[in-house]
Amino acid sequence: ADDKQAYRTRIKQLLKQQDAVLVAHYYTDPEIQALAEETGGCVSDSLEMARFGNQHSAKTLIVAGVKFMGETAKILTPEKTVLMPTLEATCSLDLGCPADEFTAFCDAHPDRVVVVYANTSAAVKARADWVVTSSIALDVIEHLDSEGKKILWGPDRHLGAYVQKQTGADMLLWQGACIVHDEFKASALIELKKQYPQAAVLVHPESPAAVVDLADAVGSTSQLIKASQTMPNEMFIVATDKGIFYKMQQAMPDKTFIEAPTGGNGATCRSCAHCPWMAMNGLKAIEEALTDASGHEIFVDGALRERALLPLDRMLSFAK
Ligand code: 13P
Ligand code: SF4
Repeated sequence: ADDKQAYRTRIKQLLKQQDAVLVAHYYTDPEIQALAEETGGCVSDSLEMARFGNQHSAKTLIVAGVKFMGETAKILTPEKTVLMPTLEATCSLDLGCPADEFTAFCDAHPDRVVVVYANTSAAVKARADWVVTSSIALDVIEHLDSEGKKILWGPDRHLGAYVQKQTGADMLLWQGACIVHDEFKASALIELKKQYPQAAVLVHPESPAAVVDLADAVGSTSQLIKASQTMPNEMFIVATDKGIFYKMQQAMPDKTFIEAPTGGNGATCRSCAHCPWMAMNGLKAIEEALTDASGHEIFVDGALRERALLPLDRMLSFAK
């Protein structure tokens, strides 16, 4: 505990000294979220993280999340120093969508508008017409569908299938998945619902369709937090990374939040839904990044950056 207090104190000093601000995702550990709040940074979903970093006047952004979030920040504000607690924090969606294979897929379907999820590398974004996050995927696809566009979507197949079902758009899907959300099990969730019939079910759309079908609300992390505040229920079953419970419980201390079940072969695991890459964002790693930037700084090649900026700017303008 003393160690942690020492890290917190030192990080606060370093943030001030370096004109740096901490931008954290809801899936990072509670102590990281608390520190971001306390130091005038932000804790939010991927879209709001991008917007916050883009608008903030700090010289340095320290992005506590996974690599695509740091890259997005660097693409949007190349004049800023963008640091991450660790450059090892990746994402199974990013890993499962190599730029060369994705480019070949796009080239094979030149009649389609390419829409990629934010959870991708700068090189994949550079091949896209649009970038979306889960909070605006439905709106963007609805817009493109209303213009009669056919869509090539990547990489998350569950989010893609959900959007396709909601909008009826013509979408060709890359077959990626988030290893965290892919583990939620519909059969075990049905059992849990029987046990707590008064609970509302909140589901992130990176979850399998059978789980999404059981939801009372589907949305990005911010949208799920909002739903937990505006829905009248006193109890919620939540199918997303457990990092989100910090904010939900903080905003609604009298409500009860329980984790949706994960696990295979009928066995259920509660308390398992935590992204291993988000978990790498510890206090020590943040302190290290601010003490010595080497090995913590995000760089994006200039030509790549210029191309990736177009679909990202499109997203931010659309989301206004
Ligand atoms: P959102 O916060 O945009 O819902 O993203 C979820 C996610 O998986 C980020 O890794
Ligand atoms: Fe990627 Fe899933 Fe981790 Fe988010 S929770 S960073 S989508 S692996």
